[in-house]
Amino acid sequence: MSPEQVVGSVTEAGHTPPLICRKLTWEGFGVAVIETRGLRKEYSRLRGDPVVAVDGLDLDVPGPGVYGFLGPNGSGKTTTIRCLLGLIVPTAGSVKILGEDVTDLHRVIGRVGALVESPKFFPTFSGRKNLQMFARVAEVDDGMVDVAIDTVGLAGRDRDNFASYSLGMKQRLAVAATLLKDPDLIVLDEPANGLDPAGIVEIRQLIRRLADDGKTIFVSSHQLGEVQQTCDVVTIISKGRLIQTGPVAELLSAGGAQTLRVVIDDAAGALAVLTAAGFSARLGTIADSVDVDLGPEHGASVTHHLAAAGRYLRALEPQGATLESAFLELTGNEGGDVR
Ligand SMILES: Nc1ncnc2c1ncn2[C@@H]1O[C@H](COP(=O)(O)OP(=O)(O)O)[C@@H](O)[C@H]1O
Ligand SMILES: [Mg+2]
Repeated sequence: MSPEQVVGSVTEAGHTPPLICRKLTWEGFGVAVIETRGLRKEYSRLRGDPVVAVDGLDLDVPGPGVYGFLGPNGSGKTTTIRCLLGLIVPTAGSVKILGEDVTDLHRVIGRVGALVESPKFFPTFSGRKNLQMFARVAEVDDGMVDVAIDTVGLAGRDRDNFASYSLGMKQRLAVAATLLKDPDLIVLDEPANGLDPAGIVEIRQLIRRLADDGKTIFVSSHQLGEVQQTCDVVTIISKGRLIQTGPVAELLSAGGAQTLRVVIDDAAGALAVLTAAGFSARLGTIADSVDVDLGPEHGASVTHHLAAAGRYLRALEPQGATLESAFLELTGNEGGDVR
């Protein structure tokens, strides 16, 4: 992709950088950073009914902060983001970005940075040179390249060829490109996709830093654990519909499920004892463990039944509700359709 393709409008895998940081507060904000009403997108097919990718979505994204847009694969996240950025035209409904209707996006496009799916850079140029090209076309001072490189933690490697970068570094360079005009709103579609655990942590920390700097980050993910620690507010969608939205803490308590993890030798034998005693339990996801569907107040009873059967546990660990368990509960364990 050449720099010409990314200036003046947001493009796929593109970066459209912005200006002044206007602070909006989570409460009592005047203008939502993103607002959709009845957003719907159908894709027509050669045969059969159209695919309804987004089905009447109402989103209200205040700022600054991190707004997680969560859903399984195929749930309509990328389609929604494309509608938000004016890359595709919705079948119905409205989209406002920074107070402007998406059809007037040119008025605010300079304040929006976006990264949709895999970014593309010139492999034989350094990360710095790639950013400089974007900066020049965007008529941004070269100094912003330094700021962006520092912000994403690429200082020291910025003069190396892009081709030599790890996946995580490439992704951070892509985020750097969205920062060149100091945007108010940054839209990132699955920025942690395909990264190793260290890369995921780096992206997570970067997103948090940007939000703490007063920006609004709209970040999508199908990996809920990936964003759980980072987001202030999350929206969960499934099959193009809003399932749940709110501050992370509220969603966690809505998810509710509590588990007691029993760590014990012969977990299968322990599971048989507990099941026979009437507990709802299953083998845990870690070795030598059984998960019992009870809160920590039932620890004594679980311990008693196991000991009575001559089985002694190594550890008993209450597991708090995670956004993941909330998510699975809310979406009925469907896991979405991967098409
Ligand atoms: N260009 C397209 N043409 C037809 N169907 C599409 C197109 N893009 C996405 N879809 C379908 O729309 C649904 C939502 O896809 P998408 O928005 O990519 O979901 P997500 O980003 O959450 O994985 C899926 O069923 C997908 O197959
Ligand atoms: Mg997607």
